[in-house]
Amino acid sequence: MKLSERMSQIQPSPTLSINTKAKALRAAGVDVISFGVGEPDFDTPEHICRAAVDAIKEGFTRYTAVGGIDELKDAIISEFQGSYGLSYGREEIVVSCGGKHSLYNLAQVLFDPGDEVLIPAPYWVSYPDIVRLADAVPVILPTYEQDQFKLRPEVLEEAITAKSKGLILNSPSNPTGATYTKAELEKLAPIVLEHGLPVISDDIYYRIMFEGQPWVNLAMVSEELRKQTIIVNGVSKTYCMTGWRIGYLAASAELVGAVTKIQSQSTSNPTSIAQKAAVAALVGPQHCVDEMVAAFEQRRDHMTSRLESLPEVKVIRPTGTFYIFANFSSYYGRAYDDQVIEGSLDLSAYLMDKVHLAVVPGVAFGEDRCLRFSFAISMEQIDRGLDRLTEALSALR
Ligand SMILES: Cc1ncc(COP(=O)(O)O)c(C=O)c1O
Repeated sequence: MKLSERMSQIQPSPTLSINTKAKALRAAGVDVISFGVGEPDFDTPEHICRAAVDAIKEGFTRYTAVGGIDELKDAIISEFQGSYGLSYGREEIVVSCGGKHSLYNLAQVLFDPGDEVLIPAPYWVSYPDIVRLADAVPVILPTYEQDQFKLRPEVLEEAITAKSKGLILNSPSNPTGATYTKAELEKLAPIVLEHGLPVISDDIYYRIMFEGQPWVNLAMVSEELRKQTIIVNGVSKTYCMTGWRIGYLAASAELVGAVTKIQSQSTSNPTSIAQKAAVAALVGPQHCVDEMVAAFEQRRDHMTSRLESLPEVKVIRPTGTFYIFANFSSYYGRAYDDQVIEGSLDLSAYLMDKVHLAVVPGVAFGEDRCLRFSFAISMEQIDRGLDRLTEALSALR
């Protein structure tokens, strides 16, 4: 059977395939240490699980409203009021099966064939393919290491054409762990406003911020910008609920209506039980989030200082998320067994083969000089992994 032309345009998610490879090796008895993990290593908090069990026991197991139950929309609205200081009505919220699904739906309702969508690199691996699946064109914008890979206003300005239909911003960023400050967003704001460019703000890591720094997005900069910004968020990372598949977005009633329509002809509602669990997550006790973020911050400190002590490695100190992006390009051109390391793919393959260490090659995020390390693993694993990294790097000639 012949597959559609569309399928030749996209790649399987490289981060998922690295984790699959690590799992397969582990199943074969190999002691793999994986820095490839894209989810918190903590369990979903007990009170959230209990809400799901209660939902099952109470028979809350049928179709719900396509765009999510009112109880969950109200919890999301309170969260937007509390954490963002922004007011939305129920008609401006739609719940989907994960933040990724929200982003996919958005691309389907916003973009026509040939539309250009601006994506600063390094970017989350799925953005370009989500855009391509809408027959639109991802336009990758360069950023600079000395700016912690954050978008410069002049780069944005230069990239905008009559075909530009959107900009995707992600802060804190996967893969760099960098976060935009209000002052930085205020510099992007006039350009976005002048060109009427819709912004998709992917806030999925918004609660994972270090050193008590304030988190801010473009919609919070001014009321005009709020109207032009679509906010995507979800419970996956904040409440260790990656498997539950609940994401949501806030936008105009018109756009929310369009996303709901797509959902009505594709997935229908997100899982009823998971919606009840998400309500418990958003309105319940929040100390589980604080504890997780404190653990991530300790690991970040430890891992950053160990990576910084490696010769010729440049580290972007993350201000949020559970990722560290580090530049290993000075090791490119070196060799082992006559095999020359040409880039991040070769280096990550070498680390897997030589010391059974899984890392994600930066090329997957559009930045070949770097590797991404997740610290959603225990401190003991981090130390063992970094010992292996040190050994493998020192064997390169
Ligand atoms: C930047 C970014 N956005 C969105 C998502 C989607 O998360 P989910 O679909 O689990 O809500 C992820 C998950 O890895 C992510 O890293």
